[in-house]
Formats: sequence, C-alpha cells, structure tokens
Amino acid sequence: MSQIYTEHWPDYALLDAGNGEKLERWGEQITIRPDRNAYFKPVWSKEVWLEKADFIFQEETHTKGRWEKLNPEAKENWNISYGALEYGLELTKFKHIGLFPEQRTNWDFIQSNIEEDDRFLNLFGYTGGASLAARSVGAEVYHCDAVRQINAWAKSNMETSGLSDIRWVLDDALKFAQRELKRGNRYKGVIMDPPAFGIGAKKERWKIEQKFHELLEIALEITDPGGFIIMNTYSPKLPASKIKTALTELGVLDQSTVETLAMKTTTGKVLEYGELTRINR
Ligand SMILES: C[S@@+](CC[C@H](N)C(=O)[O-])C[C@H]1O[C@@H](n2cnc3c(N)ncnc32)[C@H](O)[C@@H]1O
Repeated sequence: MSQIYTEHWPDYALLDAGNGEKLERWGEQITIRPDRNAYFKPVWSKEVWLEKADFIFQEETHTKGRWEKLNPEAKENWNISYGALEYGLELTKFKHIGLFPEQRTNWDFIQSNIEEDDRFLNLFGYTGGASLAARSVGAEVYHCDAVRQINAWAKSNMETSGLSDIRWVLDDALKFAQRELKRGNRYKGVIMDPPAFGIGAKKERWKIEQKFHELLEIALEITDPGGFIIMNTYSPKLPASKIKTALTELGVLDQSTVETLAMKTTTGKVLEYGELTRINR
C-alpha cells in the first residue's frame, strides 16, 4: 500500500496526533479535535497539548459537539493563507473549521496540471480549496455543492483571495454531472470529495461505498482525453482494493493511482486520512 504525503505550509502544521485526536496550528491559533485515524500514542502529553491549544472540540454525539475555548484571547473566526489564497476559518459543530489541509497535495497537482481557460469542475466543493487553486491559474471553474451556506463560504474565500467569476452551482453533485453529460459540457479536470454518508437529489441517503462507482463513471464521461480526475474517499468501508476493482471494471486501472493520503506530524508521527485516486484520462 503506497502513501502520498501532503506537506505543512507556513499557515498550517499538524503538530502532534494520537489517542484519537490531533493538535493543529492554523496561522496563529491551535486546535485539538478528534480524528479516528489517530489510533496510536501521541508524542507530547495531554498537558502539553492543553497548554498550547486555543480551542478543544468536545464530542457530544458521534457527528456533533462543541468547542471549548482554552485561551480567552482566541478568535472564533480568523483567516489563513496558502500562497496567494486566503481562507476564512470558523469553528463548526461538526468539528470542521472550513478547510481540509491534507488536500494541499491536490491543490498543487491542480495548479500544475490546469492551464488558463481550461474547464475545471469541483464536485462536493465545500469551502473551495480546489476551486480557488484552479481559478488562481486562470481556469474556468464550476464549483458544485448541495448546501447554500457552504457555497456562500466558498464565495467569500474567492473574494478575500482577490479572485472572481467562479460559477457557483447549488445542486446534487451526481445530478449536475449527469446534466453536464447530456448538455455535452466537458472538463479538463474533475475533483470530487464525496462525504462517507451523503444525501442525494431526492433526499435519499447514500453511502460512498455504494455510490463511488457511479460517480467515477460519470466523471470519466465528462472529462476530456488528456485530462484528469481526482477522487478523495475517507471511508474505512472503501479500501483501495474496492476502488481498484471499480477502476478495472471501468477499464482505467493502468491510467490510475490509488494511494493513502497521509501527513507527518512535527513530532514524527504519520496520520492517514483516506484514499486518494487520480486517473489520467
Ligand atoms: C468532505 S466535504 C468536501 C471537502 C472539499 N473537497 C475540500 O477539500 O475542501 C463534502 C461536501 O459535500 C457536500 N455535499 C454532501 N452531499 C452532497 C451532494 N449530494 N451533492 C453535492 N454536494 C454534497 C457537503 O455540503 C460538503 O460541503
């Protein structure tokens, strides 16, 4: 099983991880939040973590919780940069704060593989990490997310980054991709970061292990020859072996890589996130 490492940058560092949690620095502020992949022992003690951190996330159910402020001076909203891009961060009750920093490797990949005026599609786009990366090199970017407030957050990130004219699509990702296929619209690059549990166009609930084959199939159909597809999947129910079976069935295994996305902590531990699939069309 091969790993692909994503690197820290000046405004983000994974400081330490372990005992089901991670300690992260976002610009000036430090958070502690749960991560089921941090099943190993951390290097620093919990006392050290608590001394460093500004906020800690306390889980109340397995999907929601609340943030406890450890430093009274800390800000609940702040910005961080990645090169020329700027992202607004906010503490949400789902333990996320508005950016998946491990995606940095994909932002770099997109910036090296997309050229001015290429069409780029970000399905399940969230706060626009990949959309801003593509737009910053001059691509025509379509950003699709089913949640209105999330698209508004991404739009605000576009504006604070000094960018404009991303096409915002408020829709079900699969439905939008199917419509694009019918309309004959094609892309140089497609990225998708589907959640482990999703809600479809008819409000039906789906699991990524049931849906990824269909998502890959449609992504292949709307991508131009010479283009690429990136799929991130963070579910333990979807191991690399299942993804490779689908790639074989779709006839693209030899044009694809499936690697485990990982990051090193400053203390030398390795945190894995999920599978990262890239297909050259
Ligand atoms: C895991 S996040 C994506 C992270 C993002 N790619 C990044 O790296 O910043 C999943 C996103 O998918 C959206 N979403 C969930 N179900 C969806 C659906 N059926 N169609 C479109 N978007 C959906 C959620 O609103 C959320 O913003």
